[in-house]
Amino acid sequence: MAKLWGGRFTKETNKLVDTFTASISFDQKLAKEDIQGSLAHVQMLGECNIITTEEAEKIQSGLYAILDKLNKGEVEFQVEHEDVHMNIEKLLIDEIGPVGGKLHTGRSRNDQVATDMHLYLRTKTGELIKLLEKVQAALVSQSKENIETILPGYTHLQRAQPVSFAHHLLAYFWMFERDKERLQDSLKRINVLPLGAGALAGTTFPINRDRVAELLDFDSVYPNSMDAVSDRDFILEFLSIASILMMHISRLSEEMVIWSSQEFQFIELDDAFCTGSSIMPQKKNPDVPELLRGKTGRVFGDLIGLLTVLKGLPLAYNKDLQEDKEGMFDTVETLEGSLNLLAPLLETMTVNTGKMRKAVTQDYSNATDIADYLAAKGLPFRQAHEVIGKIVIYAIQKGKYLLDLEMDEYQSFSPLFEEDVYDYLTPEHVVGARKSKGGTSAEQVKQQLKLAENKLVNE
Ligand code: ARG
Repeated sequence: MAKLWGGRFTKETNKLVDTFTASISFDQKLAKEDIQGSLAHVQMLGECNIITTEEAEKIQSGLYAILDKLNKGEVEFQVEHEDVHMNIEKLLIDEIGPVGGKLHTGRSRNDQVATDMHLYLRTKTGELIKLLEKVQAALVSQSKENIETILPGYTHLQRAQPVSFAHHLLAYFWMFERDKERLQDSLKRINVLPLGAGALAGTTFPINRDRVAELLDFDSVYPNSMDAVSDRDFILEFLSIASILMMHISRLSEEMVIWSSQEFQFIELDDAFCTGSSIMPQKKNPDVPELLRGKTGRVFGDLIGLLTVLKGLPLAYNKDLQEDKEGMFDTVETLEGSLNLLAPLLETMTVNTGKMRKAVTQDYSNATDIADYLAAKGLPFRQAHEVIGKIVIYAIQKGKYLLDLEMDEYQSFSPLFEEDVYDYLTPEHVVGARKSKGGTSAEQVKQQLKLAENKLVNE
């Protein structure tokens, strides 16, 4: 089959080479962006009298006709035309005749493909921010229901101090808030136009890059044509942000897996979001959070993959760069799927407040509070820590919890103990006493919820 670049060649391309070098199987995802970019380019070519207005209009109507067929699923791409750019140019020439060949005046596939990816990632980043906000909204609504729900807070996965469940969930809200800020910030760097850089050095035609930027709603154009065609930082940045985001999703998922286990029973995931076992009839498996955790691996892989592709590349365009797309699509699609599921998974989970409350009465996580109690009475905290450590060993040996010890037992360790110590030790008091800014008391959690809700309303 005749190639668009066939002039210099005396032989047909080897079929294996066609298949090996083609990107159409995956870059057809950029078809709409490719047409969008071409529409703006050709408009500018007409306005700058590089082609006539009639030619520009004819090419534009041809491009719209292809877009229409694309939307109806009537377009067939061919591997012999290698990639989405040449396939669309070929379809255009078939549609309107040789004048279609004027579309590629003053541009190269190198600046074209970069432009397509900027357009694609700009749209997807906007959409992902919206999906992320849905997850944040789900965290806020669960938190509102659980300000007074107390569960053990852990360090080293050992019970440390009791906390409000809302406080625990809101920690994830802020992680996602930072992810959202990073995505928003990255838009500045995505929204720079490569088109007009030509193959690498610019073009001899009197083009107007700023006009194309205006038509495509870019904030500026790349100031260096070589950078424009070989820069993939904006994709790397996206993959880095996505990796951090997936890591957050994975941590939250891990907690959901643990919390829903028989050992914890802190939450129950909705039946609609769980699956069964083909052999063990009793099983209800948390496949969704497990897969969210598992899919983190491919996103990290996409980041490392592209870093590796770029690492040794000399300027400017190299075919290696074609390897930038599949990982980007994979990460976008993985994030879309993950965020779409995470929101309802959080909204529909049942919180087992009884089990959580019971857990904090069957541990020593109020030990810090009696140390604080003695310290408030004037004993240096370090000495108080020592005394309470002894009390904890004593209680463990007696098979008692701290609330079960008698007053004379307390006083045998320190004369500073009085009846009011028992009030200090209830989970409600322990949580409620942490009124420092950003702490877990209901009063502070309510403040935090206000801040969180403001973030959602104002964005
Ligand atoms: N399919 C190519 C890519 O994705 C488009 C650019 C090709 N340019 C070239 N000179 N071979 O990178």
